[in-house]
Amino acid sequence: MKISVIGTGYVGLVTAAGLAALGHEVIGVDKDGGKIEKINRGVLPIYEPGLEELLSLNMKKKALSFSQDVAGAIREVDVVFVCVGTPQQEDGRADMSQIEEVSRLIAENLDRYKLVVEKSTVPVKTSYWIKRTMNLYRKSEVEFDIASNPEFLREGSAVSDFLNPDRIIIGVETTKARDILLEIYRQYADRIVVTNIDTAELIKHASNSFLALKISYINLISNICEKTEANIEQVAVGMGLDPRIGPRFLKAGIGYGGSCFPKDIKALVRIGEDLGVDMTLLKEADKINLNRIRVFLDKVKQALWILKDKNIAVLGLAFKPETDDIREAPSIRVIGELLREGARLRLYDPQAMDNMKDIYPEEPGRLTYASSAYDALADAHAFLLLTEWEEFAQLDLALVKRIMANPIIVDGRNVYDPEKVRALGFEYYSIGRR
Ligand code: UGA
Repeated sequence: MKISVIGTGYVGLVTAAGLAALGHEVIGVDKDGGKIEKINRGVLPIYEPGLEELLSLNMKKKALSFSQDVAGAIREVDVVFVCVGTPQQEDGRADMSQIEEVSRLIAENLDRYKLVVEKSTVPVKTSYWIKRTMNLYRKSEVEFDIASNPEFLREGSAVSDFLNPDRIIIGVETTKARDILLEIYRQYADRIVVTNIDTAELIKHASNSFLALKISYINLISNICEKTEANIEQVAVGMGLDPRIGPRFLKAGIGYGGSCFPKDIKALVRIGEDLGVDMTLLKEADKINLNRIRVFLDKVKQALWILKDKNIAVLGLAFKPETDDIREAPSIRVIGELLREGARLRLYDPQAMDNMKDIYPEEPGRLTYASSAYDALADAHAFLLLTEWEEFAQLDLALVKRIMANPIIVDGRNVYDPEKVRALGFEYYSIGRR
């Protein structure tokens, strides 16, 4: 099939490359010409394992091309995937202006039947607005359909998530739209769930909010562990063995970040409240997540007492490992608080330092970026671990102890074994384990 994918962010790029890998002819489009020019030169705007290879392979095979001509790309195809951003507004609602703009463009270029597939995470009822907008702006009576096909890609493993999906949700209102999407995803026929559009839209928000709730739940339980002799890692194992609960997303830590959970839980709260539904449950989950930073900083203060003029090594800036993404990363708020207290910070992350420099530029004597984890840890009075990169799990801790000024580790992700690090002579603070 000939497909255009509008938007070349995380979702758009992976979707374009993935659909090409499934055997379709795909045009990835973005009105940002600079971005397209870079992608065509093989320079990706993001770090995502396996993406560069998948893109270049399919571009070489001519199954995938990129263009800045959004209108042209719409006219060339029968199916348009909409993967533009829906950023969070001040009031928690999603900003839908890019979706509206794309809907108008598609309507203006509706030269023959087209299926418009929303893949961006959108509030339930968005398809109604896309349809209304398209009806207002189309210049002829040419038919079109809307469908919802939410993405379930995790950053850091988005390519393999696309190519090995747990489920493919297709929300449609006509058999024609259903058949087109079944054809697009025919390799995954055994995993396709067909619903109406409202249901598909809600599945996405409900899934992300549930996962966020699960994380806040285990973090809440970790607070109880810290006041008792219970160990959160063992509590999670014990709970996870119940197949109704499952072991995944029960990792206590400094909380969820990223471009999805924090935004989607707030958006679902607004959607529910706008519809008159009491959304206290999700509001509390979000509040628990915000409080994780306080819980973590209390540990840092318990270890160092006064933070002013202390050398603090902050390892891990990305909101999770295997990505350079720092959107809503807990590190941003932790760094802000430490700077306010007058600490001297040395930051390190395998991928996310360039992005963090846009928020916190280097300020010699106050905040600097290190060339390696060891470089960050030299002469540090404390080692704060904020993202569980494998590289940090593999550190030579005996060497770390020798190069640090004080052997103190505050581990926000429970990467280390408390007994082992204490045996090496570290004072070790972690989450939900005394
Ligand atoms: C999430 C969902 O997992 C995807 O299914 C969804 O498609 C995506 O959002 C989206 O809406 O686009 P992502 O944000 O990339 O994916 O990352 P996750 O792996 O879900 O992690 C989110 C945050 O939760 C991270 O900050 C992570 O550190 C934290 N987390 C995750 C925990 O604190 N504990 C856990 O047990 C799991």
